[in-house]
Amino acid sequence: MKIPPFKLEEYFSKYEFTAPYLLCCSDAESWTLKEILDLADPETKTLWDQLSLGYTEPAGLPLLRKEIANLYSTIQPNQVVTFAGAEEGIYCSMRTLIYPGDHVINFGPCYQSLDTLPKEFGAEVTTLPLDPKKNWKFSVEEVAKAFRPNTKLLILNTPHNPTGSLLTADVLNSLIDLARKNGAYIFADEVYRYLEVDEKNRLPAIADAYEKGISLNVMSKAFGLAGLRIGWLATRDKAFLEATASYKLYTTICNSAPSEILALIALRARDVIIHRAREIILTNLQILDRLMERHPTRLSWTRPKGGTVAVIQLLLPIPVEKFAQDLVEKTGVLIIPGTYFDLPGNFFRIGFGRKNMPSILERFEQFLNQLS
Ligand SMILES: Cc1ncc(COP(=O)(O)O)c(C=O)c1O
Repeated sequence: MKIPPFKLEEYFSKYEFTAPYLLCCSDAESWTLKEILDLADPETKTLWDQLSLGYTEPAGLPLLRKEIANLYSTIQPNQVVTFAGAEEGIYCSMRTLIYPGDHVINFGPCYQSLDTLPKEFGAEVTTLPLDPKKNWKFSVEEVAKAFRPNTKLLILNTPHNPTGSLLTADVLNSLIDLARKNGAYIFADEVYRYLEVDEKNRLPAIADAYEKGISLNVMSKAFGLAGLRIGWLATRDKAFLEATASYKLYTTICNSAPSEILALIALRARDVIIHRAREIILTNLQILDRLMERHPTRLSWTRPKGGTVAVIQLLLPIPVEKFAQDLVEKTGVLIIPGTYFDLPGNFFRIGFGRKNMPSILERFEQFLNQLS
């Protein structure tokens, strides 16, 4: 069996550590080890200083699971299992839920593993298109029509990668009603949670809102700690969580011991951490607004409502793959052509979670100004 290449991650492994100016990343500005340790409270400082580098508990350090449970309103620590990043959480969830004969509903474009893995494990997948002409929205009626007697799972990602769109509370409630009526799980990839442009639009986590809801989150994005590789699943569905935790014993067994403590420190200091990420993002969005205003004949977008990424349409008669290739070769600025998300048309993804975005955008604009 040969799994299809993960196009986005392969693109990143080709360029991420060689292109000097990354205008496409989806994580917020990273924190240094020293900055995180400076945020430690006396208890976590002692845990760090006395850390023994052995195996850790497979479901995750109990103190860490307790802190994660505090992010939800109905979730107990034993309803949380940690994983190596969000990616392992996606893999183990799909492995647990999906069997040949199952039907899955998802949305496209999307983060590739949310589409490839259910297919790989034997499901028939109905991908409902997110339409740029409709500000990346879909209709609940379309979703209702897509349900079949064997629909096992509805996959959501909000705030959304790559479009930056956000579900509304009404739409989320309708989707929960549909899933409940059809006996389906909802897997919600919530890795960009806490980065809603307007905090009033933050949705309840699916693990709180729906008894068969599975929430995925991670330290990588809003918390700016991708190198820790700490993600988690939270759900009230005990059978699912136990089965998923069993898969972890065949993948990583347990998390990295230092990463667990660092994640615990960061979660306890989450107000500081999220505040910094939000400030960078909101400032960068205003700078992007001005860029878009200066180039109405070259670029167009739907302003993102959350997360760290957005999709821009290139209005010039140049194929976006060539545009991206010339851009990286001539200026060192890296963007991601929409083709890496199976997005037809002349679109590309940018990221606005990093402090250096304004200076990289200047290089991008100099390049753009030379084109007509
Ligand atoms: C929507 C979404 N889910 C999951 C992941 C994987 O996250 P991690 O790198 O923390 O495993 C990403 C990474 O870009 C993502 O954008």
